[in-house]
Amino acid sequence: MSQEPTTGDFARFFKPGRVHRQLYTDPAIFELEMERIFSAAWIYVGHESQVKKPGDYFSSLIGRRPVVMTRDTDGTVRVIHNQCAHRGALVVATEHGNAPEFTCCYHGWTYHLDGRLKAVPLNHGYPRDFDLSNPKMAMQPIARVTNYRGFVFASLASDGPSLEESLGHMTTSLDDMIDRAPDGEIEAAGGVFKHAYDGNWKVYFENLCDAAHPLFAHRSSIEASQAQSDDVHSDGSGEIAIRQMRQNGAPYSFWESQVGIWTYPNGHSYLGDYHDDSKLVAALKDPVFRDYIAALEKKKGKAETKRILEVRRWNSNIYPNVSLMSQFQQLRVVHPIAVNRTVVHTYNFRLKGAPEQMFRNTISFANIVNGTGSLVLTDDLEIYNRIDMGLSSEGAEWLQIGRGYQSDLPDQHGGRKGVNSTSEVYIRNMLDAWQGYMSNGHAAPVRAAS
Ligand code: FES
Ligand SMILES: [Fe+2]
Repeated sequence: MSQEPTTGDFARFFKPGRVHRQLYTDPAIFELEMERIFSAAWIYVGHESQVKKPGDYFSSLIGRRPVVMTRDTDGTVRVIHNQCAHRGALVVATEHGNAPEFTCCYHGWTYHLDGRLKAVPLNHGYPRDFDLSNPKMAMQPIARVTNYRGFVFASLASDGPSLEESLGHMTTSLDDMIDRAPDGEIEAAGGVFKHAYDGNWKVYFENLCDAAHPLFAHRSSIEASQAQSDDVHSDGSGEIAIRQMRQNGAPYSFWESQVGIWTYPNGHSYLGDYHDDSKLVAALKDPVFRDYIAALEKKKGKAETKRILEVRRWNSNIYPNVSLMSQFQQLRVVHPIAVNRTVVHTYNFRLKGAPEQMFRNTISFANIVNGTGSLVLTDDLEIYNRIDMGLSSEGAEWLQIGRGYQSDLPDQHGGRKGVNSTSEVYIRNMLDAWQGYMSNGHAAPVRAAS
């Protein structure tokens, strides 16, 4: 298939267990993705703890469209377009901060925190019907904004499924992130890691639940960790690094027997935890985790604590722009910039009511897996770039996403799961959603397990 016009039947890019490479290389497809996926789906914008006080603001993107999340004087969290109603300039140019009002840098038009126009210099010069209170003369509100337990999502589409309908069973991954806090609240803390790569945004999501790659792609850090003594840093942080990297080296037989992959309508999925509690999360030798469990039990009781800690998920992908990892309170936001350019921001969260060392462990984990100097992330970034370079060779037209295709199983919550974690079911599931958004403006229903 040569590069074809990009309207019409998107099914032509798929064959059973295969996808055409054009999806990852064609700038026209990328432009349509911005219109049809990122302008329709629920897009994660930020966490309400990033705008704690009235006047706090946090800038982000919906697709490539700049938006601002603000905390209004009445405490309401809002998301508005970051565009001046005068001549269109970006109003908020900093990433976050606190301001009593927003003032455009060009001619000084000033806006309330909810986006309403407040004042215009030289306004006597405008025609008589010039009216500051005209809603069109505002930083425009985003069509729909929903706050799910502190996670703020927005959709540019004025109708369509609600956030909860769109998330379906994936709300349980967001719940897991919050339920782990003894006080029932989390807060973004510790800054942000940013990285960029020359490659398509979809390959990032296609890697986060890829259980077939760690043993191979991350071999250098696996071997280095295997050579390390068990007796490392007493504060637990070194131990997290060593154990995480070693477990990336679990044999294929382990991934094929002990780990699961689950997918849900609208492109969402999560990978089961591939760490035994005795190796990573719950049994570090330092007493911090025991203190943490005690704090959790005190607030939530023994039975609820047990239920919470038995949720064992690794990365949860909420299509199309956010992935979270609840056991170490990580959250990654994917910003597509161009067909072959993607930026990812990673945030860490503090569990309120947990010992401070738990947050230090979160930061340690972030340094291992998401930090710009990470021994793990650097492998993946190189791979994303090599995918882009490889695809430009015009070699094989059809890419293979068929592993586990004939053994997908139905899931009790309306999705389908792989027969084991190495199934590429979650890639097929995302591409089903892709096809639905691109063809119809909403995600396609999950195909029945074959
Ligand atoms: S463009 Fe914003 S004040 Fe003129
Ligand atoms: Fe990786």
